[in-house]
Amino acid sequence: MDAAEPILLKADELGRIEIIERGGVRIVRRDITAARGWARPVACRAAAREARALIGLAGIDGVPTLLAWDGRELLRSYIIGAPMQQAQPRHRSYYRDALRLLARLHRRGIVHNDLAKEPNWLVRADGSPALVDFQIAWTRGHRGRLFRLLAREDLRHLLKHKRTYCAAALSARQRAILETPAPHSRLWRATGKRLYKLIARRVFGYWDNEGKGRVRD
Ligand SMILES: Nc1ncnc2c1ncn2[C@@H]1O[C@H](COP(=O)(O)OP(=O)(O)O)[C@@H](O)[C@H]1O
Ligand SMILES: [Mg+2]
Repeated sequence: MDAAEPILLKADELGRIEIIERGGVRIVRRDITAARGWARPVACRAAAREARALIGLAGIDGVPTLLAWDGRELLRSYIIGAPMQQAQPRHRSYYRDALRLLARLHRRGIVHNDLAKEPNWLVRADGSPALVDFQIAWTRGHRGRLFRLLAREDLRHLLKHKRTYCAAALSARQRAILETPAPHSRLWRATGKRLYKLIARRVFGYWDNEGKGRVRD
């Protein structure tokens, strides 16, 4: 592999995300100039939200460091690891560390909101978890009921992955959380998801499952 060649991680209507090298160091670039038309402002807002979240999470191990955001490209540190659907973490220590990581996010008033997607969970070389993709994160601090509801959904999505790969380690309390999704999630499953799939097929010509990883919601 030529180290100077960007490695494409993903490309869609909202732009491209790739691994590049700057000064001999691997970093991840989200390029929103690759987004066109109506998608451009949407991609720009999403990247700005990711930048805000990464600033709020600075210093937390298991979250990329924001290196730059200029309204066109967002640069973040590269975390060595593989996405969950590839690495399939079966050890309970992964989930213990992932719970701690989530607690740290939430303590800073940030909710990830996109944790049903396996590709947003990384398994690092030492087997520990890391999170990427803060494009739809809640970044407005601890604000009452809605914040708590969304934070609990982050947790529930993690537990769904735990149920898939490490079910024997689920506690009784964790099983109870799995059995009670938030009202908006129930509503989404009943109606929104079908509507979204329809729109996704009509507009994009596909149903976005990020190509590979399963989505558990
Ligand atoms: N440091 C990394 N190491 C390995 N894979 C990564 C890394 N960063 C991102 N990826 C992979 O690239 C995918 C796309 O990045 P992401 O930030 O999720 O973009 P998008 O918002 O377009 O989903 C991720 O879901 C993940 O699987
Ligand atoms: Mg993603």
